[in-house]
Amino acid sequence: MLYEVKGQSGTMARVMKITKLICCVTLLFGIIGTLWLGLGVKTLNDRRPGAILRLTSDKREHLSLSHKGAEANSKDEKGHSKNIGILIQHSWTPFSAKHDYKYLLNNRLKCADKGGKLYEKLSVIAIVTSDPRNVDRRNVIRMTWIRHAIENKIAIKVMFIVGVTSDGSIRNKIKHEAFLYKDIIQEAFQDTYLNLTVKTIGALKWATQLCPRAKFFMKLDDDVVVNIGNLTGFLDVFVPSVNYLGGIVQVGSIPFRNPQDKWYTPEELYPEATYPPYPEGKIYIMSMDVAKRIYHHTKTLQIFPWEDVFIGICAKQLSIVPQNIVNFHGVWTVRSEGIGIIKTDETLANLNFLYVFYDLTIGEMIEIWQAWMSNSWD
Ligand SMILES: *[C@@H]1O[C@H](CO)[C@@H](O)[C@H](O)[C@H]1NC(C)=O
Ligand SMILES: *[C@@H]1O[C@H](CO)[C@@H](O)[C@H](O)[C@H]1NC(C)=O
Repeated sequence: MLYEVKGQSGTMARVMKITKLICCVTLLFGIIGTLWLGLGVKTLNDRRPGAILRLTSDKREHLSLSHKGAEANSKDEKGHSKNIGILIQHSWTPFSAKHDYKYLLNNRLKCADKGGKLYEKLSVIAIVTSDPRNVDRRNVIRMTWIRHAIENKIAIKVMFIVGVTSDGSIRNKIKHEAFLYKDIIQEAFQDTYLNLTVKTIGALKWATQLCPRAKFFMKLDDDVVVNIGNLTGFLDVFVPSVNYLGGIVQVGSIPFRNPQDKWYTPEELYPEATYPPYPEGKIYIMSMDVAKRIYHHTKTLQIFPWEDVFIGICAKQLSIVPQNIVNFHGVWTVRSEGIGIIKTDETLANLNFLYVFYDLTIGEMIEIWQAWMSNSWD
């Protein structure tokens, strides 16, 4: 499972680990007991985590904070040795965040009408950070929530941003894809995990320069599905259109200081004891004024490799306080580590509470989307 959390929350993490352990043990006993007694599916359902972990929203937060630690892995780094931090593995040295990469693919009129005039009524410009190889994921996103947004005339535009790879066949495929769908931004930087912050700045730059009239900027990963009707409904009604940054906010995370940790962060790179509050990178939203301010601010900084922490650092320096979006929390009430998506009436109700679902395989993206749309697990 891919939990992209770059810090650890000390005691709380330990407490939560114990809580999780207790839950796992309870679950295990539940399963063994059920099988032994032969009581069938119904009892088993009652033992599933969705039933056990009926918690207040306060506790939900803590649980999301518990997915910490060195087991966190990154998509591009799969299979690499985990015994040494990825910064060390790649002899990473900081460089300026000034973003001057050439556009290889673009669609500069995405947010404009045929006459080239910018749409005034655009609610959201969403930019999905994607790996050039992930055409299947992009197609699932196009077929699910993007199509739904178009069919329901939701005022959102969606682009994908990728870097470059050395693989020539990928280069041609992505060109063709951009020709077909006109939704690809490609910039001339190496598409690597450690360039994810560069990619994010690319997204901010593109939105700032080519879609500046949208009310909100949304950044998300390509393994996320969005309950787009509910989310935009929420944004339109409840979210301030200035000075806003929201998502799944991590507060008080501690940088990993052990070189053996995947996310090892040397003191020279980040000397302070804790990270500022930051919205987890899987999906976050900014009012456009914040996107512009953060983009311009990045020009004065060095790249920090964990892109979501980097956003938190920028936000802090600009006195912007990240806000939690409650309906982004609680994916764990539907899916359990090691078990996967749990399909009961109760988890369906929990799913309907969520605006987003993340860390998904391609099959799961479709499953979750269909469950939202049909209000059933069939
Ligand atoms: C990021 O991309 C730049 C530009 O292509 C490249 O020079 C650099 O090596 C990449 N950095 C990492 C850490 O992959
Ligand atoms: C999401 O939208 C559906 C359909 O319009 C609605 O039934 C549901 O209550 C909404 N959920 C939330 C949490 O707003």
